Amino acid sequence: MSGGGSSANQVRLLLVEDVPQVAQYVRGLLNAQSIIKLLDVISDGTKAPAQILQLRPDVVIVDALLQGRMKGLGLVEQLAAAEPRVPVIVLTVPQQPVSADPERGIDGVLSMPFSGYDLVNRIQEVHKRAQERSHAGQARMITVFAPKGGVGTTTIAFNLAVATGQQGARTVLVDGSLQFGDLRALLKVPADAPSILDLPTDRITDADLSDVLWRDPSGIDILLAPPRIEMAEMVTTRDVDKVVSILRRAYEAIVVDTASYLTDVTLGFLDQADLILELVTFDVTTIHNTIAMAGTFRAIGYPPTKVQYLVNRADSSGGIAVEDLARSIGRIPEHTVVSDGQLVVRSNNEGVPFVLAAPDAAISQDVVRVAASLVGAGRAAVGAAR
Ligand SMILES: Nc1ncnc2c1ncn2[C@@H]1O[C@H](COP(=O)(O)OP(=O)(O)OP(=O)(O)O)[C@@H](O)[C@H]1O
Ligand SMILES: [Mg+2]
Repeated sequence: MSGGGSSANQVRLLLVEDVPQVAQYVRGLLNAQSIIKLLDVISDGTKAPAQILQLRPDVVIVDALLQGRMKGLGLVEQLAAAEPRVPVIVLTVPQQPVSADPERGIDGVLSMPFSGYDLVNRIQEVHKRAQERSHAGQARMITVFAPKGGVGTTTIAFNLAVATGQQGARTVLVDGSLQFGDLRALLKVPADAPSILDLPTDRITDADLSDVLWRDPSGIDILLAPPRIEMAEMVTTRDVDKVVSILRRAYEAIVVDTASYLTDVTLGFLDQADLILELVTFDVTTIHNTIAMAGTFRAIGYPPTKVQYLVNRADSSGGIAVEDLARSIGRIPEHTVVSDGQLVVRSNNEGVPFVLAAPDAAISQDVVRVAASLVGAGRAAVGAAR
């Protein structure tokens, strides 16, 4: 959200330092790069908490030797108790060693003298750890997307959601394919079943949300798309953002099924995703669209790690080799799911997920493996510890 021409990946830094020479030294080191943006230097420690609330830095550096009414380590202690807690790096001298202790709000230490390399590295490291911490315990949102229709997005999203639910993650499936609401058809829900449109427009509460979720017999909760095509445009990206932020609090995994064309709403679901699971098939036009989409994602500024590729119907290659596909998209696809026409058509027609109907089928095991790799890693460890 930072303005002033800064990029989304920039780390926003605030420095609390009352020695002008040291402040100048840090400024000088940071001038040579653009990864870290120094928002301000504050010389009076008592003013730091208010400035942090206002400027919302990603990382704060506090000089342990800060003088005045608010001493350096006193400020660190105060910041450690604040909510939300901002990651703090303590700057000190060898004569007064300080050790990193995240429990006490010291996420990193820099001892004078340090190089620009040390400075930038330490800031990035502390920032990265803080981000991981804040994502832990939060819902993982996986947006399933394909830049081409009919390649299995809805089928995979539904079965993936059921599989993550089976693996113990509280899961909600969101029908982000708003015009045709693919999941309504698939699950044969009654036309009057509530949808995303039944949410209040201003303040959505958790209770409102549970009223509009469809509880599928497969065990997962589903937020349906509007019942009629022309209603799709009543849903805005603001609605998407609000819905997602509430779902993140109530669930451990959010799986979104999307339409294959880029609308504002589809982009909203892609933006919000922790991970985009992009479907590819061995088909020239799909591959062409996949390459084009990779260019678009790059232009938007998505890091490559935000996207993982899933080759659907990976065993029916139609003459295109996996290597050709990998060369075309410039990556080795992370996941493959085999095809099983009979089982998929039968279970889709019955509205049951094949991962439940035929758990031993190769296609089911493939999807279960994808689920485990996307949300299962942390949970498997928890399960094993029990
Ligand atoms: N792995 C698979 N093996 C066999 N058939 C599959 C597989 N995946 C999908 N299909 C079939 O492909 C067809 C399209 O599937 P689905 O509706 O999930 O695709 P979609 O990408 O969501 O389509 P749309 O663009 O209409 O939303 C369905 O008939 C489904 O049965
Ligand atoms: Mg679909």
